[in-house]
Amino acid sequence: MREKKGFGSNFGFLMAAVGSAIGLGNIWGFPYKMGANGGFTFLVVYLVLGILCGYILLLSEITLGRKTGRGAVATFRIISRRFKWAGWLGVIASFLILGFYSALGGYCIKYVVLNLGNLLGSGFGTNGVVGAEVFRLFMGNQLESVVYGLIFLVITMLIVMGGINGGIERVCKVSMPLLFFMLLVCIIRACTLPGAVEGLQFMFVPGWAVANGVIEQEPSLFAVISAAGGQIFFSLSIGMATMLTYGAYLDKKESLTKNTLLIVVMDTLVALMAGLCVLPARFALDPQGVLDGPEMLFATMQNVFDNMGSVGPVFGILFYLLVVLAALSTSIALFEAVISYFVEKAEERGKHRRPLCALVAALLIGALCVLVCMDGMGNNGIAPYQLLNLAEQGWNGDWLSFFSMVAEGLLMPLGGLLTCLIIGWEVGSDVIRSEVEVTGQHFGTAPLYRLCIRFITPVILLMVLYGQIQSFFFA
Ligand code: PHE
Repeated sequence: MREKKGFGSNFGFLMAAVGSAIGLGNIWGFPYKMGANGGFTFLVVYLVLGILCGYILLLSEITLGRKTGRGAVATFRIISRRFKWAGWLGVIASFLILGFYSALGGYCIKYVVLNLGNLLGSGFGTNGVVGAEVFRLFMGNQLESVVYGLIFLVITMLIVMGGINGGIERVCKVSMPLLFFMLLVCIIRACTLPGAVEGLQFMFVPGWAVANGVIEQEPSLFAVISAAGGQIFFSLSIGMATMLTYGAYLDKKESLTKNTLLIVVMDTLVALMAGLCVLPARFALDPQGVLDGPEMLFATMQNVFDNMGSVGPVFGILFYLLVVLAALSTSIALFEAVISYFVEKAEERGKHRRPLCALVAALLIGALCVLVCMDGMGNNGIAPYQLLNLAEQGWNGDWLSFFSMVAEGLLMPLGGLLTCLIIGWEVGSDVIRSEVEVTGQHFGTAPLYRLCIRFITPVILLMVLYGQIQSFFFA
């Protein structure tokens, strides 16, 4: 099977793949989920599932991509006879996720600007308004949200137009180490604030969250497993077309097992680091602030910087800039996954259509992004439940939750399950082994892999799927 010209170095691949994994999920999802689901216990469950589910599926996806040298759609067509269409699930999910990811990326840029305004003492800062109100006002300003969302999308498009080596790799090789460094600086500030220790206790000490009234009751083991599983899934960008697409551009001489393990480790490390930055700061400077999701990121954290004194705006700029970088490296991976099928098709006919494909994709994704921005998380009256009267059927999410429910809640676990079915039960795990060992590498984890892909991973996935459906529809 053919091999594409792709990443110039293994480091470049690693930074791009880690960049795809590290995103908003690490920053606004992981820290709170860890604290609310048993602290250190959650971490242990997370790590175990990270190997049994995360590592196994990630290895499967990257390997399949490299084996065929093609995007998700073509790869599943080549590999499977029964589930030829499976690749489309990932492409559609990537498309939907991008619709809201670009809206949120735009929010992050807006917050860099806000803090810049605070630093310069000019009118475009927060002007003494509290975080929750600033956030509400911004979401209510449809034009402004749309403009920022589209700026983020255009930046994404331009990077992807530059190609794998000239665009994506070049950006990620710089932005990922930079993100790591900026996060370190923010952690040092957060952990040395008076009162920061409560944040650490919330995050690490089992039972602390309940004993201190942050959450009402200890979750069941099932709830912990399903929360950890769902988080791993989203955080590692599994069950989507992204990792498979990047795998297609990886050189045959590089080790798949080592790279996969490194991605899991780095993604988890950055999730923990995000917790060390966000939670101590929240407990020290905004003890009543919302602890997760968009409000945590945009309302609580803004309060934190407003309460930090004269260096607040500097840390505000640093923090939101690092979030922009995290979101951007994710959005370019999603974007590449969406267009790769079309770019490939054109190449087969000897044509270079990357810029055109990127432009058309950006227009379509732009339409979703505009919808999400105008909806302002349900504040502006154009959410699906308001339009379609879904509230009567018991569902009242906004556009953002709607897209994330379809993509994250359904398509991603389904994509993961299909991968297990195809490799474990249809074509057999030798399809993976032969590629892992293709240039003579040793596949030391092969026995574990075989056991997991057939039995353990699918069972965990079913639990995650069940948990997701429960939380989206019946919470
Ligand atoms: N992993 C990303 C995050 O943590 C989200 C993502 C999901 C990216 C699926 C690509 C594919 O935010």
